[in-house]
Amino acid sequence: MSKQIKKPWQGRFTETTNEFVEEFTASIKFDQTLAICDIRCSLAHAEMLASEGIILKKEAKSIIKGLKSIEKDIKREDLSWSIQLEDIHMNIENELIKRVGEVGKKLHTGRSRNDQVSTDLRLYLRDITDQITHGLENLQSVLLQFAENETGTIFPGFTHLQVAQPVSFAHHMMAWFEMIDRDIDRFNDYRKRMNVLPLGSAALAGTSYTINRDQVASILGFERVSKNSMDAVSDRDFAIEFCSNASLLMMHLSRWAEELILWSTPQYDFISLPDSFCTGSSIMPQKKNPDVPELVRGKTGRVYGALFNLLTLMKAQPLAYNKDNQEDKEPVFDTAITIKNCLKAFILLIPEISLNRDKMSMAATQGFSTATDLADYLVKKGMAFRDSHETVGRIVQHAIQSNCTLFEIDLGVFQSFSKLINDDVYEILSLEGSLNSRNSYGGTSPNNIELSIKEAKQRLVDRGPDA
Ligand code: ARG
Repeated sequence: MSKQIKKPWQGRFTETTNEFVEEFTASIKFDQTLAICDIRCSLAHAEMLASEGIILKKEAKSIIKGLKSIEKDIKREDLSWSIQLEDIHMNIENELIKRVGEVGKKLHTGRSRNDQVSTDLRLYLRDITDQITHGLENLQSVLLQFAENETGTIFPGFTHLQVAQPVSFAHHMMAWFEMIDRDIDRFNDYRKRMNVLPLGSAALAGTSYTINRDQVASILGFERVSKNSMDAVSDRDFAIEFCSNASLLMMHLSRWAEELILWSTPQYDFISLPDSFCTGSSIMPQKKNPDVPELVRGKTGRVYGALFNLLTLMKAQPLAYNKDNQEDKEPVFDTAITIKNCLKAFILLIPEISLNRDKMSMAATQGFSTATDLADYLVKKGMAFRDSHETVGRIVQHAIQSNCTLFEIDLGVFQSFSKLINDDVYEILSLEGSLNSRNSYGGTSPNNIELSIKEAKQRLVDRGPDA
């Protein structure tokens, strides 16, 4: 049996903790991720305790010195953690007392691990949120650079996974851009809501010391302090909301991944993924598998799982803090790592994709994709839309039976369906003609897409580097 370390809360206990229980209840294996945030939180607390005269200035000085030396060792990965000390908070406090002596025991004045852990996790998630929005903005730039050269590239637009109307490939990419844009908005809104300081709520009821919570908030960059101590120590909305934003983001990346996977199959053959992003099969020598997008699609499951994990974790908890809350960390950390990696994968992959433009435009001719253009043509010549829809339906039927495209139908045949059709029809039946005509705001005409790329670039500039 390992030598027992004295626990900070040991006073009222007559027995030592069962070894299994020690293992079972400890969080240090995973909450060591919060080590640097915990130090930041303690540094701010110590500074405030001294400026309020709750501890002496020189006591604060040695506490701060001790904390900084621990921080250095953590960064050098030169500190070992003890399961007997349960979690990151008690491990660091114990280490502090080892390094600075009795005065280290004063750090925990006026606080509890309950407000401490919530503060640490908020600091952690705020940093991660900034990294994620930065990554999302990078991904947007990568998309813009790609889309810029593809405004005139004809691509089959799908509905029901059937070729519907020709679109510009850049239009398709800009659809992805808009999804990511909403993700950025969501993370930015979230950041404002979560940037609240719980420290000072102590265990649940606040504290009798004359602490200055605003000072701690300002040192740690929180916009305001929490208003209700019971809510503050038990609230995990900020963790749930993070996972909710992450789930929406993963849903977007997964839709996107799915398209890349389909398009790179021999059946579609619209794109090739770089060899350096694919893997082979151990049995089928010809295979080149799109592992990266497949993994992004697959990892969506664990992020949704984390969201449901946290929602379920919280659903039946009475106020205020319960040990259940310790279970919030692993799903949050896992989500943070997962979305960071998935973003990185896409940022690296997208510029490396090569396009098979001939195949794209050939596919866009399938499925009578300019039939709507023909219906609109008849409307412009005076026919009511419902009638033109019916007429074109019959023309399509004829084309199916004659096994030809709309473009291949003779003018005489067209005119047997409607006298309104002249030889100018062939222009509107062409893919380029169809694309150019879709000039409504938000539509696919290359002119529009050029404008929308310009506007999107401006949006990136307006957001600024620190938005
Ligand atoms: N390790 C704990 C957690 O992650 C810290 C808070 C402990 N508080 C308590 N009352 N046991 O939630």
